[in-house]
Amino acid sequence: MKCDAMAKKLAVIFLITLIFNQTSALIIPSAIVVAISSMGYLGPKIYCQLKECCSGKWTSPNITGLQLSLQKRVFGQHLVTETVSKAIIGHLNNKSPGKALAFSFNGWTGSGKNFVSKIIAEHLFRKGMDSKYVHQVIATHDFPHQAELKHYKKKLKDLIVRSVKGCPRSLFIFDEMDKMPFGLIDVLKPYLDHHHEVERLDFRKSIFIFLSNTGAGLINQELLTHWKEGKKREEIRIKPLDEALNLNEFNAKTGFWHSSLIEKHLIDYFIPFLPLERSHIKMCAKADLELKGYPVTEEILNRVADEMLYSPEDLKVFSKSGCKKVSSKVDYIML
Ligand SMILES: Nc1ncnc2c1ncn2[C@@H]1O[C@H](COP(=O)(O)OP(=O)(O)OP(=O)(O)O)[C@@H](O)[C@H]1O
Ligand SMILES: *[C@@H]1O[C@H](CO)[C@@H](O)[C@H](O)[C@H]1NC(C)=O
Ligand SMILES: [Mg+2]
Repeated sequence: MKCDAMAKKLAVIFLITLIFNQTSALIIPSAIVVAISSMGYLGPKIYCQLKECCSGKWTSPNITGLQLSLQKRVFGQHLVTETVSKAIIGHLNNKSPGKALAFSFNGWTGSGKNFVSKIIAEHLFRKGMDSKYVHQVIATHDFPHQAELKHYKKKLKDLIVRSVKGCPRSLFIFDEMDKMPFGLIDVLKPYLDHHHEVERLDFRKSIFIFLSNTGAGLINQELLTHWKEGKKREEIRIKPLDEALNLNEFNAKTGFWHSSLIEKHLIDYFIPFLPLERSHIKMCAKADLELKGYPVTEEILNRVADEMLYSPEDLKVFSKSGCKKVSSKVDYIML
């Protein structure tokens, strides 16, 4: 506003100079002054055209794209597709959400927890995982030593405060939650809670996603029971899984679950990722073959699926590595 007024004032001066002094000696310097002062006004706009800012195209969410991508690209996770996009839309539509949105993604290896997180990031931020407002924290990489707890606490706090200062709708993804140093996660408590302000900032527009394998055994057991009863996979509801998770594993006093996030109900949604079956392995293989420009035949898909190991030993229903090794198996087979 100030710049705008200044630019106008300078423009007037420029015109007056133009009218009263027809000498080019004065016109040129005043033209330069006007040009520079309007640059100061337009500067941020030009900057945000080129560089990432917390506004406009950089942070406008692509909700239809998110829903579509989750439905089309994520296989065998009907609970995830149903819950995640709804929860995110609800939070985004709320002009002043009561608290930060917090998900816990739980499930077997290779079931799509990182994959879904990436899809979310890509549809909330133009630069996806490369956005400066998206942070992926990997426990064993970023916080490997319990002895450094004090230093880590500060590091984590700084990361969150810095990001939210830059953009209230920041996204934080915590991978390997079960391997976080004991006590570190407690640092997050004030940012996840219903506080109006923490350190003069409002954290309630941010989104947190916690990934772990915690509870995977229970989820698989639930699904196997369901499967043995001859029921369809798509018929399993979130509630029995939620109950199984809440009652058992999360009460065990280890790592993440020891922290007060659970006790204080700071996590809004526990999203169970189901173990993937042979048919899903083939779907992953098809997607990977198409991505790499290879032909897709039933024979190739079966060869990829045959390469995987399945559990339990007697029934062989669930892929032991989910879709995780599919891409490398495809490379190997197509070589
Ligand atoms: N449900 C799924 N639908 C489609 N592709 C999947 C799915 N699950 C996994 N994939 C594919 O497998 C790759 C590995 O999955 P991802 O890294 O998301 O597993 P994860 O659940 O994070 O496993 P971990 O617990 O070992 O970290 C993904 O990049 C994706 O290509
Ligand atoms: C929204 O997401 C969809 C699916 O990923 C994509 O095809 C589309 O180009 C995106 N739209 C914008 C405006 O980025
Ligand atoms: Mg993962």
